[in-house]
Amino acid sequence: MDIGTRLFRSALLALAGNRVVGKMAHRYGMKLGASRFVAGETADEALLQIRRLNAKGISATLDLLGESIRDLAEADRFKREYITLLERIHHDALDSNVSLKPTQMGLALDPAACYAHIRDIVEKAQQLTNFVRIDMENSPYTDDTIAMVHRLHAEGLTRVGTVIQAYLYRSRLDVRQLTKAKVNLRLVKGAYRELGHLTYRSMDDVNANMKRLIRVRLDAGVYTAVATHDEQIIAWTKTYARRNGIPASRYEFQMLYGVRVPLQEQLAREGYKVRCYVPYGRMWYPYFVRRMAERPANLWFVLKNWRDR
Ligand code: FDA
Repeated sequence: MDIGTRLFRSALLALAGNRVVGKMAHRYGMKLGASRFVAGETADEALLQIRRLNAKGISATLDLLGESIRDLAEADRFKREYITLLERIHHDALDSNVSLKPTQMGLALDPAACYAHIRDIVEKAQQLTNFVRIDMENSPYTDDTIAMVHRLHAEGLTRVGTVIQAYLYRSRLDVRQLTKAKVNLRLVKGAYRELGHLTYRSMDDVNANMKRLIRVRLDAGVYTAVATHDEQIIAWTKTYARRNGIPASRYEFQMLYGVRVPLQEQLAREGYKVRCYVPYGRMWYPYFVRRMAERPANLWFVLKNWRDR
């Protein structure tokens, strides 16, 4: 990544945490172009999009947007909404699980309360034979997130997994331990602003680590989601699996709503399991800014929409 792109990325990611800018964006953002990456502000809108994806042979993971909440009453509201979502998915026979963020459930405020909320959601998912993915946030939360997943599994609640970020040096060890415990993982490159000593510096190194982690998982035969829009890594995964006799039922590809849509559809037509991450809700701003930071061209798309209004 060149220095200009790195600075641009870093400036945008700093904006993701800015509440004042966030408030302004909420007033205008959906019209400005956030709707390309966010399925709507209500569950009805998001479930409609999931129905459309399912009709094309694409599974979903539903994400009620929210993170870094300021009081635990918010976490309780989010928990109740997730439980309702799981019931609606079941009732409507949709092919979708759910993804949630630990700080949305109060991890930064009260880790014990956060665990209790997530446990309730996973218990509901287990009852309905569904699944909960705990997204991975920035590195201050990595240890606690992984520990929660181990604890849930130890309590017999196994329909839960988490995410490992290839940009972190520590991920190799984390993947090894989580694989031993047979935890379903989503592998990603990583989307947050992190201190330099924790992460690989170059994209080539991140890509090489991503492939290393994918290989460990495929070799071990523990179900894995390869979550990337990087065609080179997708092609590499397909080839590695084919050459090593690993059936396509042991892994899936995941991509974000509104990103590389033709590629999602093509993989599904080829017979691969594809899952689309479908975010919705009123708190879409930090999610949206991370998508801008991943690809500067997205920002020009949004600015162009604004100009053309
Ligand atoms: P990379 O950034 O190298 O992009 C490869 C190509 O894909 C680009 O050339 C571009 O064409 C296209 N592309 C990538 N991002 C795009 C975008 N936003 N808009 C348009 N085109 C784009 N991270 C995290 O830290 N914790 C998490 O829990 C998750 N969860 C998660 C779930 C799912 C389903 C996905 C797909 C991703 C995440 N991520 C995440 C985000 C992840 O860490 C990473 O930031 C993005 O996926 C972008 O990286 P790529 O692997 O796509 O490759």
